[in-house]
Amino acid sequence: MYSFTNQFMSNDENAEFLKATMMGPNAMRLAEELAAHLNINENMRILDLGCGCGLSTLLLAKKYVASVFAADLWISPTENYERFKSIGIDDKAVPIFADATKGLPFANGYFDLLFTVDANHYFGDTVEMLPSLIPFVKKGGHIAVAIPGLKYEFGENVPGEMQPFWNSEMERTLHSIDWWKDLWKKAEGIEMVDSREMGCCRQAWNEWQTGYHPIVAEDIKMMKAEGGKYFNLIQLIAKVI
Ligand SMILES: C[S@@+](CC[C@H](N)C(=O)[O-])C[C@H]1O[C@@H](n2cnc3c(N)ncnc32)[C@H](O)[C@@H]1O
Repeated sequence: MYSFTNQFMSNDENAEFLKATMMGPNAMRLAEELAAHLNINENMRILDLGCGCGLSTLLLAKKYVASVFAADLWISPTENYERFKSIGIDDKAVPIFADATKGLPFANGYFDLLFTVDANHYFGDTVEMLPSLIPFVKKGGHIAVAIPGLKYEFGENVPGEMQPFWNSEMERTLHSIDWWKDLWKKAEGIEMVDSREMGCCRQAWNEWQTGYHPIVAEDIKMMKAEGGKYFNLIQLIAKVI
């Protein structure tokens, strides 16, 4: 399932590229697992929402030769354009600034697939967000999300070993599969086709801990305390009807 990612990482220069561009659990691996549950082909136009430095964009453009709109809030389109040129995907990937909470600059029905890796939990935790995104995907298309989450809702009972790391942003963004399914059930115009814990969880988190991002040092401490007991990676796929 991870043939592209494994092959990519087997090259030292690529491995360095990945360490310098990961912003969380290895997005290329998450993207490859999520994509394996979809029928992506070169004729598709995909919105990669919250693409960060574009690791999922790279996977979609290189493995599937799909056309990708790489939209992000924190990473500038200029930075991504330079990166996309350096890795030879600038003919397939359009870098664009977007704040999903402020409305997106696309036509209704424009995309075959809305694909979002390690980002939807930042903006998608409200009842309004998913209904605001659905119109951009054509009927019969899909919305596919991979996000960090929890094996169960902590509520008021945050486990003792997690308390030093737990903060208001984690409380808002990290949830169980059932929590996300309940939220998505409230949206009209989609049907859920898949929800599951992702198989790449441990490996993707371990790979993140080799990265150069400044928050890695704190995350290493957190993941050690967590010890595989509480965190998961969640995949959600819905069809637009
Ligand atoms: C943890 S980073 C992950 C980036 C990338 N998907 C990856 O996995 O490497 C979360 C990303 O979500 C994006 N994001 C957060 N809020 C957003 C919003 N309101 N609209 C668009 N993107 C957003 C950020 O810009 C950031 O790049």
